[in-house]
Amino acid sequence: MNIKKAILTGGGRATRLHPITTTVNKHLLPLANKPMMFHAIEKAVDAGISEIFINVNPGETELQKYIGDGGHWGIDITYFEQTGGPQGIAHVVNEAKEFIGDDPFMFYLSDNILLGGLKDLVDEFNSKKHDCMLALSEVPDPERFGVPIFCEKGTLIDVHEKPENPPNNFAVTGIYLYGPKVFFEAYKNIEPSHRGEYEISSIHSHFLKNGLSVGHKEITGWWKDTGKPKDMLLANKLLLEQLEETAFPNHGSIHKDAKIFGKVRIGIGSQVGAGVTIEGPVIIAENCMLEDCNIGPAVTIGNGTEVKKARIDNSIILENTTIDTSVHITGSIIGKNVVIKEKKEQVGKQMLVGDKTMIEL
Ligand code: G1P
Repeated sequence: MNIKKAILTGGGRATRLHPITTTVNKHLLPLANKPMMFHAIEKAVDAGISEIFINVNPGETELQKYIGDGGHWGIDITYFEQTGGPQGIAHVVNEAKEFIGDDPFMFYLSDNILLGGLKDLVDEFNSKKHDCMLALSEVPDPERFGVPIFCEKGTLIDVHEKPENPPNNFAVTGIYLYGPKVFFEAYKNIEPSHRGEYEISSIHSHFLKNGLSVGHKEITGWWKDTGKPKDMLLANKLLLEQLEETAFPNHGSIHKDAKIFGKVRIGIGSQVGAGVTIEGPVIIAENCMLEDCNIGPAVTIGNGTEVKKARIDNSIILENTTIDTSVHITGSIIGKNVVIKEKKEQVGKQMLVGDKTMIEL
Protein backbone atom coordinates (compact mmCIF):
# COMPACT_ATOMS: atom_id res chain seq x y z
CA MET A 1 0.00 0.00 0.00
CA ASN A 2 1.49 3.36 -0.96
CA ILE A 3 2.20 5.92 1.71
CA LYS A 4 -0.21 8.85 1.40
CA LYS A 5 -0.14 10.29 4.93
CA ALA A 6 2.65 12.18 6.68
CA ILE A 7 3.12 13.76 10.10
CA LEU A 8 5.32 16.87 10.08
CA THR A 9 6.63 18.59 13.19
CA GLY A 10 5.64 22.23 13.70
CA GLY A 11 5.94 22.63 17.48
CA GLY A 12 8.77 22.94 19.96
CA ARG A 13 10.57 25.90 21.47
CA ALA A 14 13.72 26.03 19.31
CA THR A 15 15.78 27.48 22.17
CA ARG A 16 19.01 27.03 20.22
CA LEU A 17 17.75 29.68 17.80
CA HIS A 18 16.75 32.23 20.44
CA PRO A 19 16.06 35.14 20.36
CA ILE A 20 14.80 34.92 16.74
CA THR A 21 12.46 32.07 17.67
CA THR A 22 10.93 33.92 20.62
CA THR A 23 8.76 35.82 18.12
CA VAL A 24 8.77 33.56 15.04
CA ASN A 25 8.03 29.83 14.83
CA LYS A 26 11.32 28.25 13.76
CA HIS A 27 9.56 26.37 10.96
CA LEU A 28 8.65 29.70 9.37
CA LEU A 29 12.20 31.05 9.27
CA PRO A 30 13.28 31.48 5.66
CA LEU A 31 15.80 29.25 3.94
CA ALA A 32 16.54 30.41 0.40
CA ASN A 33 13.75 32.93 1.03
CA LYS A 34 11.11 30.23 1.62
CA PRO A 35 9.74 29.19 5.04
CA MET A 36 11.66 26.16 6.32
CA MET A 37 8.52 24.06 6.49
CA PHE A 38 7.65 24.65 2.82
CA HIS A 39 10.81 22.73 1.91
CA ALA A 40 9.66 19.75 4.02
CA ILE A 41 6.10 19.86 2.62
CA GLU A 42 7.44 19.95 -0.94
CA LYS A 43 9.71 16.92 -0.39
CA ALA A 44 6.79 14.98 1.10
CA VAL A 45 4.46 15.94 -1.75
CA ASP A 46 7.10 14.94 -4.34
CA ALA A 47 7.27 11.52 -2.64
CA GLY A 48 3.50 11.01 -3.17
CA ILE A 49 2.06 12.34 0.13
CA SER A 50 -1.44 13.85 -0.16
CA GLU A 51 -2.47 14.28 3.49
CA ILE A 52 -0.28 16.03 6.06
CA PHE A 53 -0.81 16.39 9.83
CA ILE A 54 1.21 19.09 11.57
CA ASN A 55 1.59 19.36 15.35
CA VAL A 56 1.54 22.86 16.80
CA ASN A 57 2.22 24.29 20.24
CA PRO A 58 -1.02 24.96 22.20
CA GLY A 59 -2.56 28.26 21.11
CA GLU A 60 -0.37 28.57 18.01
CA THR A 61 -2.02 30.19 14.99
CA GLU A 62 0.99 31.46 13.05
CA LEU A 63 1.76 28.23 11.18
CA GLN A 64 -1.87 27.79 10.11
CA LYS A 65 -1.89 31.38 8.82
CA TYR A 66 1.25 31.00 6.69
CA ILE A 67 0.88 27.41 5.54
CA GLY A 68 -2.90 27.16 5.18
CA ASP A 69 -4.93 24.06 4.36
CA GLY A 70 -2.53 22.64 1.77
CA GLY A 71 -4.47 23.90 -1.26
CA HIS A 72 -1.30 25.63 -2.48
CA TRP A 73 0.24 22.17 -3.04
CA GLY A 74 -3.00 20.38 -3.98
CA ILE A 75 -3.04 18.38 -0.71
CA ASP A 76 -4.87 18.45 2.65
CA ILE A 77 -3.15 19.79 5.75
CA THR A 78 -4.63 19.34 9.24
CA TYR A 79 -3.14 20.81 12.45
CA PHE A 80 -3.27 19.25 15.89
CA GLU A 81 -2.22 20.66 19.24
CA GLN A 82 0.37 18.83 21.24
CA THR A 83 -1.07 18.21 24.70
CA GLY A 84 0.80 17.72 27.98
CA GLY A 85 3.90 19.79 27.12
CA PRO A 86 7.00 18.65 25.26
CA GLN A 87 7.52 14.92 25.76
CA GLY A 88 9.68 13.99 22.79
CA ILE A 89 9.09 13.40 19.13
CA ALA A 90 7.76 9.83 19.49
CA HIS A 91 5.03 11.38 21.66
CA VAL A 92 4.19 13.81 18.83
CA VAL A 93 3.58 10.87 16.50
CA ASN A 94 1.45 9.08 19.06
CA GLU A 95 -0.71 12.20 19.38
CA ALA A 96 -1.60 11.83 15.69
CA LYS A 97 -2.72 8.22 16.11
CA GLU A 98 -6.39 8.90 15.28
CA PHE A 99 -5.45 10.62 12.01
CA ILE A 100 -3.19 7.81 10.88
CA GLY A 101 -5.53 4.91 11.77
CA ASP A 102 -4.26 1.67 10.21
CA ASP A 103 -2.43 3.35 7.33
CA PRO A 104 1.32 3.39 6.65
CA PHE A 105 2.84 6.86 7.08
CA MET A 106 5.86 9.12 6.83
CA PHE A 107 7.15 11.09 9.82
CA TYR A 108 9.22 14.12 8.89
CA LEU A 109 11.07 16.49 11.23
CA SER A 110 10.45 19.74 9.39
CA ASP A 111 13.82 21.23 10.36
CA ASN A 112 15.57 18.54 8.30
CA ILE A 113 16.62 20.00 4.96
CA LEU A 114 17.87 17.80 2.17
CA LEU A 115 19.02 18.11 -1.38
CA GLY A 116 17.75 14.89 -2.94
CA GLY A 117 14.24 13.45 -3.12
CA LEU A 118 12.63 10.69 -1.05
CA LYS A 119 11.30 8.56 -3.88
CA ASP A 120 14.06 5.90 -3.64
CA LEU A 121 13.46 5.56 0.08
CA VAL A 122 9.70 5.12 -0.39
CA ASP A 123 10.20 2.68 -3.32
CA GLU A 124 12.53 0.46 -1.30
CA PHE A 125 10.18 0.53 1.70
CA ASN A 126 7.31 -0.59 -0.56
CA SER A 127 9.18 -3.22 -2.56
CA LYS A 128 10.85 -4.87 0.46
CA LYS A 129 7.66 -4.59 2.53
CA HIS A 130 9.56 -3.27 5.54
CA ASP A 131 7.83 -2.35 8.82
CA CYS A 132 10.03 0.73 9.06
CA MET A 133 12.56 2.50 6.89
CA LEU A 134 15.32 4.79 8.17
CA ALA A 135 17.17 7.37 6.08
CA LEU A 136 20.85 7.61 7.02
CA SER A 137 23.42 10.30 6.34
CA GLU A 138 27.15 10.41 7.01
CA VAL A 139 28.04 13.24 9.41
CA PRO A 140 31.15 14.49 11.26
CA ASP A 141 29.30 14.68 14.62
CA PRO A 142 27.10 11.57 15.02
CA GLU A 143 26.91 12.08 18.80
CA ARG A 144 24.30 14.81 18.11
CA PHE A 145 21.90 12.32 16.51
CA GLY A 146 20.32 8.87 16.57
CA VAL A 147 23.08 6.49 15.43
CA PRO A 148 22.50 3.11 13.71
CA ILE A 149 24.34 0.19 15.29
CA PHE A 150 25.45 -2.58 12.95
CA CYS A 151 26.74 -6.08 13.84
CA GLU A 152 30.00 -7.39 12.35
CA LYS A 153 28.13 -8.73 9.32
CA GLY A 154 26.77 -5.24 8.67
CA THR A 155 23.18 -5.95 9.75
CA LEU A 156 21.34 -3.15 11.54
CA ILE A 157 20.75 -4.35 15.12
CA ASP A 158 19.94 -1.23 17.15
CA VAL A 159 19.66 2.57 17.18
CA HIS A 160 21.23 4.59 19.98
CA GLU A 161 20.11 8.15 20.69
CA LYS A 162 23.01 10.61 20.97
CA PRO A 163 25.63 8.06 22.08
CA GLU A 164 28.75 9.46 23.77
CA ASN A 165 31.06 7.28 21.68
CA PRO A 166 29.36 6.56 18.36
CA PRO A 167 30.76 3.45 16.64
CA ASN A 168 30.33 4.93 13.14
CA ASN A 169 29.69 8.23 11.40
CA PHE A 170 26.08 7.76 10.42
CA ALA A 171 23.11 9.75 11.69
CA VAL A 172 19.55 8.49 11.47
CA THR A 173 17.96 11.50 9.81
CA GLY A 174 14.56 12.84 10.81
CA ILE A 175 12.68 11.24 7.91
CA TYR A 176 11.04 7.93 8.78
CA LEU A 177 8.56 5.55 7.11
CA TYR A 178 6.31 3.16 9.04
CA GLY A 179 4.01 0.31 8.04
CA PRO A 180 0.46 -0.05 9.43
CA LYS A 181 0.04 -0.07 13.25
CA VAL A 182 3.65 -0.95 14.17
CA PHE A 183 4.57 2.48 15.54
CA PHE A 184 1.62 2.69 17.93
CA GLU A 185 2.17 -0.86 19.20
CA ALA A 186 5.84 -0.10 19.94
CA TYR A 187 4.96 3.21 21.62
CA LYS A 188 3.02 1.34 24.32
CA ASN A 189 6.27 -0.41 25.24
CA ILE A 190 8.78 2.42 25.46
CA GLU A 191 9.78 4.51 28.49
CA PRO A 192 10.97 8.14 28.55
CA SER A 193 14.75 8.53 28.29
CA HIS A 194 16.99 10.14 30.91
CA ARG A 195 16.11 13.56 29.39
CA GLY A 196 12.46 12.75 30.04
CA GLU A 197 11.49 12.31 26.38
CA TYR A 198 9.87 9.54 24.40
CA GLU A 199 12.70 9.13 21.91
CA ILE A 200 12.08 8.09 18.33
CA SER A 201 15.24 5.94 18.59
CA SER A 202 13.57 3.90 21.38
CA ILE A 203 10.83 2.96 18.89
CA HIS A 204 13.39 1.77 16.36
CA SER A 205 15.39 -0.07 19.01
CA HIS A 206 12.16 -1.81 20.10
CA PHE A 207 11.43 -2.84 16.49
CA LEU A 208 14.89 -4.31 16.04
CA LYS A 209 14.81 -6.22 19.33
CA ASN A 210 11.43 -7.70 18.45
CA GLY A 211 12.26 -8.95 14.98
CA LEU A 212 10.45 -6.32 12.89
CA SER A 213 11.91 -5.57 9.51
CA VAL A 214 13.74 -2.20 9.61
CA GLY A 215 15.26 -1.10 6.31
CA HIS A 216 17.85 1.63 5.95
CA LYS A 217 19.17 3.65 3.08
CA GLU A 218 21.77 6.39 2.80
CA ILE A 219 20.14 9.59 1.68
CA THR A 220 21.37 11.03 -1.61
CA GLY A 221 23.03 14.45 -1.57
CA TRP A 222 23.47 16.57 1.54
CA TRP A 223 21.21 16.59 4.60
CA LYS A 224 21.13 19.17 7.39
CA ASP A 225 19.36 19.31 10.73
CA THR A 226 18.91 23.07 11.09
CA GLY A 227 18.73 23.19 14.88
CA LYS A 228 21.53 25.73 15.34
CA PRO A 229 22.29 29.08 13.63
CA LYS A 230 25.35 27.75 11.82
CA ASP A 231 23.33 24.83 10.40
CA MET A 232 20.63 27.26 9.21
CA LEU A 233 23.25 29.38 7.44
CA LEU A 234 24.81 26.35 5.79
CA ALA A 235 21.41 25.04 4.67
CA ASN A 236 20.57 28.50 3.29
CA LYS A 237 23.83 28.57 1.34
CA LEU A 238 23.45 25.03 -0.02
CA LEU A 239 19.84 25.64 -1.05
CA LEU A 240 20.80 28.87 -2.83
CA GLU A 241 23.66 27.15 -4.65
CA GLN A 242 21.40 24.32 -5.77
CA LEU A 243 18.65 26.55 -7.23
CA GLU A 244 18.50 26.74 -11.02
CA GLU A 245 19.30 30.00 -12.87
CA THR A 246 15.58 30.33 -13.68
CA ALA A 247 14.82 30.78 -9.96
CA PHE A 248 16.66 34.11 -10.06
CA PRO A 249 14.55 36.54 -12.12
CA ASN A 250 14.96 40.28 -11.81
CA HIS A 251 11.72 42.15 -11.11
CA GLY A 252 13.28 45.17 -9.48
CA SER A 253 15.02 48.29 -10.74
CA ILE A 254 18.78 48.36 -11.00
CA HIS A 255 20.91 51.51 -11.22
CA LYS A 256 23.18 51.59 -14.27
CA ASP A 257 26.30 51.70 -12.10
CA ALA A 258 25.35 48.74 -9.89
CA LYS A 259 27.34 45.53 -10.48
CA ILE A 260 25.65 42.15 -10.38
CA PHE A 261 27.49 38.83 -10.71
CA GLY A 262 26.13 35.28 -10.67
CA LYS A 263 22.64 34.12 -9.67
CA VAL A 264 20.78 37.07 -8.13
CA ARG A 265 17.00 37.31 -7.68
CA ILE A 266 15.54 40.78 -7.17
CA GLY A 267 11.90 40.94 -6.14
CA ILE A 268 9.13 43.26 -7.30
CA GLY A 269 9.49 46.83 -6.05
CA SER A 270 13.09 46.41 -4.90
CA GLN A 271 15.62 49.07 -5.84
CA VAL A 272 19.30 48.42 -6.32
CA GLY A 273 20.93 51.84 -6.22
CA ALA A 274 24.29 53.32 -7.10
CA GLY A 275 27.44 51.85 -5.61
CA VAL A 276 25.91 48.41 -5.05
CA THR A 277 27.76 45.18 -5.85
CA ILE A 278 25.91 41.88 -5.54
CA GLU A 279 27.65 38.54 -5.90
CA GLY A 280 25.28 35.57 -6.19
CA PRO A 281 23.78 33.38 -5.10
CA VAL A 282 21.63 36.05 -3.48
CA ILE A 283 17.88 36.57 -3.10
CA ILE A 284 16.58 40.06 -2.44
CA ALA A 285 12.84 39.83 -1.71
CA GLU A 286 10.24 42.51 -2.49
CA ASN A 287 10.34 46.28 -1.79
CA CYS A 288 13.92 46.30 -0.53
CA MET A 289 16.26 49.26 -0.94
CA LEU A 290 19.99 48.79 -1.42
CA GLU A 291 22.48 51.63 -1.73
CA ASP A 292 26.24 51.81 -1.69
CA CYS A 293 26.70 48.28 -0.27
CA ASN A 294 28.21 44.86 -1.05
CA ILE A 295 25.91 41.86 -0.82
CA GLY A 296 26.73 38.18 -1.20
CA PRO A 297 27.50 35.45 -1.74
CA ALA A 298 24.96 33.29 0.12
CA VAL A 299 22.67 36.05 1.36
CA THR A 300 18.87 36.29 1.53
CA ILE A 301 17.15 39.57 2.37
CA GLY A 302 13.47 39.65 3.38
CA ASN A 303 10.70 42.01 2.17
CA GLY A 304 11.02 45.70 2.91
CA THR A 305 14.59 45.63 4.22
CA GLU A 306 17.03 48.49 3.54
CA VAL A 307 20.78 48.19 3.39
CA LYS A 308 23.20 51.11 3.03
CA LYS A 309 27.01 51.16 3.29
CA ALA A 310 27.33 47.64 4.72
CA ARG A 311 29.03 44.54 3.35
CA ILE A 312 27.01 41.38 3.97
CA ASP A 313 27.89 37.78 3.14
CA ASN A 314 26.67 34.32 4.22
CA SER A 315 23.70 35.71 6.15
CA ILE A 316 19.93 35.57 6.48
CA ILE A 317 18.25 38.96 6.99
CA LEU A 318 14.51 38.97 7.71
CA GLU A 319 11.82 41.52 6.87
CA ASN A 320 11.63 45.29 7.38
CA THR A 321 15.09 45.62 8.85
CA THR A 322 17.39 48.60 8.34
CA ILE A 323 21.17 48.33 8.18
CA ASP A 324 22.78 51.71 7.60
CA THR A 325 26.42 51.68 8.61
CA SER A 326 29.74 50.61 7.12
CA VAL A 327 29.98 47.29 8.90
CA HIS A 328 30.95 43.83 7.58
CA ILE A 329 28.20 41.37 8.53
CA THR A 330 29.01 37.69 8.01
CA GLY A 331 27.55 34.37 9.23
CA SER A 332 24.61 36.22 10.78
CA ILE A 333 20.87 35.79 11.18
CA ILE A 334 19.14 39.14 11.71
CA GLY A 335 15.45 39.26 12.62
CA LYS A 336 12.53 41.46 11.58
CA ASN A 337 12.30 45.20 12.25
CA VAL A 338 15.91 45.40 13.47
CA VAL A 339 17.78 48.71 13.13
CA ILE A 340 21.57 48.77 12.88
CA LYS A 341 22.79 52.29 12.19
CA GLU A 342 25.56 54.76 12.85
CA LYS A 343 25.31 57.30 15.60
CA LYS A 344 27.08 60.57 14.89
CA GLU A 345 29.65 61.88 17.39
CA GLN A 346 29.28 58.91 19.66
CA VAL A 347 31.80 57.87 22.26
CA GLY A 348 30.62 54.32 22.87
CA LYS A 349 28.15 51.92 21.21
CA GLN A 350 24.56 52.70 22.08
CA MET A 351 22.08 49.84 21.90
CA LEU A 352 18.59 48.72 22.77
CA VAL A 353 19.04 44.94 22.58
CA GLY A 354 16.49 42.25 23.47
CA ASP A 355 17.09 39.24 25.71
CA LYS A 356 19.39 36.47 24.49
CA THR A 357 20.71 38.51 21.55
CA MET A 358 24.27 37.69 20.52
CA ILE A 359 26.46 40.47 19.12
CA GLU A 360 30.17 39.96 18.36
CA LEU A 361 31.86 43.32 17.78
C1 G1P B 1 16.06 14.08 16.63
C2 G1P B 1 16.12 12.58 16.87
C3 G1P B 1 17.44 12.00 16.39
C4 G1P B 1 17.63 12.36 14.92
C5 G1P B 1 17.52 13.88 14.71
C6 G1P B 1 17.54 14.21 13.24
O1 G1P B 1 17.01 14.71 17.46
O2 G1P B 1 15.93 12.33 18.27
O3 G1P B 1 17.43 10.60 16.53
O4 G1P B 1 18.90 11.90 14.49
O5 G1P B 1 16.30 14.38 15.29
O6 G1P B 1 17.38 15.57 13.00
P1 G1P B 1 16.80 16.22 18.02
O7 G1P B 1 17.01 17.12 16.85
O8 G1P B 1 15.40 16.27 18.55
O9 G1P B 1 17.84 16.38 19.07
